[in-house]
Amino acid sequence: KFEEIALAERTFLAIKPDGVQRGLVGEIIRRFEDKGFTLVGLKFLKVSRELAEQHYDVHRERPFFAGLVDFITSGPVVALVWEGEGVIASARKIIGATNPLSAEPGTIRGDFGVNIGRNLIHGSDAIETAQQEVSLWFKEEELVSWQPTITPWLH
Ligand code: TYD
Repeated sequence: KFEEIALAERTFLAIKPDGVQRGLVGEIIRRFEDKGFTLVGLKFLKVSRELAEQHYDVHRERPFFAGLVDFITSGPVVALVWEGEGVIASARKIIGATNPLSAEPGTIRGDFGVNIGRNLIHGSDAIETAQQEVSLWFKEEELVSWQPTITPWLH
């Protein structure tokens, strides 16, 4: 059915320590809510080195790897899973280019970021990495599939 196909896709996002410390958690979550995606997972945590290294394993040989792991483990992050049609690619657009200097105004990194190493938010880049990252950061029972109730909670 259309609804099931449309809702099947999930992505993993993490508001990095700079996003938390700059008080941008609400602003960032707002953008995904406004777009119409459904929140299915959320937690606030201090990331262990082990988790950070696993999450950024593809970058293990890159010169920025050690600094990246130091940064991600330096303060709490907000881990999020969002669901919706095309959410992986759409979230990447909402986030903007890796280097905030190249990110368009209107994107999160374009609006709030300055430095490539302090670019506020992570978003999965493909179906396979989204699945890996969702299961790396969340247990199945921490994810909540839900539908809005028929009557909105309005007066
Ligand atoms: P990458 O996966 O290429 O970017 P994105 O976060 O947009 O998917 O890189 C992961 C993170 O590594 C990136 O968000 C910031 C950091 N990084 C650097 O610090 N320096 C660099 O030159 C690159 C490419 C990334």
